[in-house]
Amino acid sequence: MASIGKGAITIRVLIVLCLALVSCEAQGRGGHGGVGLRGGVGLRGGVDLRGGGPGAGLGKEFNVIQFGALPGGKADSTQAFIKAWVAACSYTASARVVIPQGVFKVAEVIFSGPCTNPNPMLIQVIGTVIADSDPSNYPDKGWITISQVDGVRVFGGGTFDGQGQNMWKYDDCRTDPNCVYLPAALYLENVKNARIQWLNLVNAMGFHMHISDSQNVRVNRVTINSPAESPNTDGIHISRSQTVNIGRTSIATGDDCISIGQGAMNVSIKQVTCGPGHGISVGSLGRLPNEMDVRGVLVTNCTFMGTTNGARIKTFAASGASRASAIVFDNLIMNNVQNPINIDQFYDSDSSAKPSLVKISDVTFQNIRGTTASPVAVNLVCSKLAPCDLKFNNINLKSSGPVTSTCTNAQVQYTGIQVPPPCK
Ligand SMILES: *[C@@H]1O[C@H](CO)[C@@H](O)[C@H](O)[C@H]1NC(C)=O
Ligand SMILES: *[C@@H]1O[C@H](CO)[C@@H](O)[C@H](O)[C@H]1NC(C)=O
Repeated sequence: MASIGKGAITIRVLIVLCLALVSCEAQGRGGHGGVGLRGGVGLRGGVDLRGGGPGAGLGKEFNVIQFGALPGGKADSTQAFIKAWVAACSYTASARVVIPQGVFKVAEVIFSGPCTNPNPMLIQVIGTVIADSDPSNYPDKGWITISQVDGVRVFGGGTFDGQGQNMWKYDDCRTDPNCVYLPAALYLENVKNARIQWLNLVNAMGFHMHISDSQNVRVNRVTINSPAESPNTDGIHISRSQTVNIGRTSIATGDDCISIGQGAMNVSIKQVTCGPGHGISVGSLGRLPNEMDVRGVLVTNCTFMGTTNGARIKTFAASGASRASAIVFDNLIMNNVQNPINIDQFYDSDSSAKPSLVKISDVTFQNIRGTTASPVAVNLVCSKLAPCDLKFNNINLKSSGPVTSTCTNAQVQYTGIQVPPPCK
């Protein structure tokens, strides 16, 4: 749909559809003029994105079985997945890689571009994909990687199961700062104009989803599920990326539900439920030299259930200088959360280390309510060398006993209700 002539016709058709459908979002989409991906409209008409469906109108099917994949979960189907992708990526019209009903085992798979196919790539996951559990098969950062693709959509109601229970014993990142992370289940690297929706990610070896060096990524109606004790299994990690929207997603895991790392800009997170997990965090920042700033983060209408943290910002001590700013945590419900509001600039650091040089400013916490599992509902440990600049509006966090705030090096403007009472 990037070809001009055809595009013009498609645009007209889509405009009509957009007028008819309230759900049609009017957003430009870079290289594909938005039209292809917004083809969401057409897609919904053609197929039930949640399930299999006939796939009418979704372009030519490149079924992994036709490329040699074997269901049953025993045989290795890695090469079949890659061949199906390569064929679709170089096809000249709309193309859809299909992973049908059944269980398919694969090791590292890279869906790599750029594609000569001018249309957005579709990957329809209907069945269950399970990971091979030999650590030597994962030299890179991902299990299923999408790399250097402009225009891609992954959907279909199926499951990526990282079989992390076989691999978590190899994770030493809690004790070794120079450790190598286990691969992310779904790694988007250098991707533009991507939509990930109606998918299940379970028991990832490392992060469930890692979005890096990418632009314009939307994640919707994804379910992420791993045990509370699984190590470093962040739900979604974002770094060095602009315009990432996450919505209607439910995350249960052993680490941060969502972590927003260096270089993340214009990130919006709406209607996410988190728990078990470590909350929604900006950070950790300041671990590496020359990190990029974090700017423009909105976390709204989210619910936390029994998590260790709620809304959190964390930076290492002894860090390089960077900024985290224009951050809003809004309309959040905390159910029995240990640290509902938490800034920690000595994250994982020695208390005798030099204070962090990450400047946290223009951060708003508003309409945050519910219950805290510890008496310190608000805990702000900011850096002496870069005090935090924060706004608190309508905070109402209760427990069975008294609740308190503690603050170090924090400048806070308070408005509205404050339970716990502000720091003096
Ligand atoms: C920020 O993201 C929104 C979508 O959430 C988008 O419409 C807007 O163009 C983005 N702004 C910038 C500066 O990238
Ligand atoms: C958040 O939820 C409220 C209702 O609880 C709704 O009015 C508002 O539009 C929602 N905001 C977003 C950004 O989804």
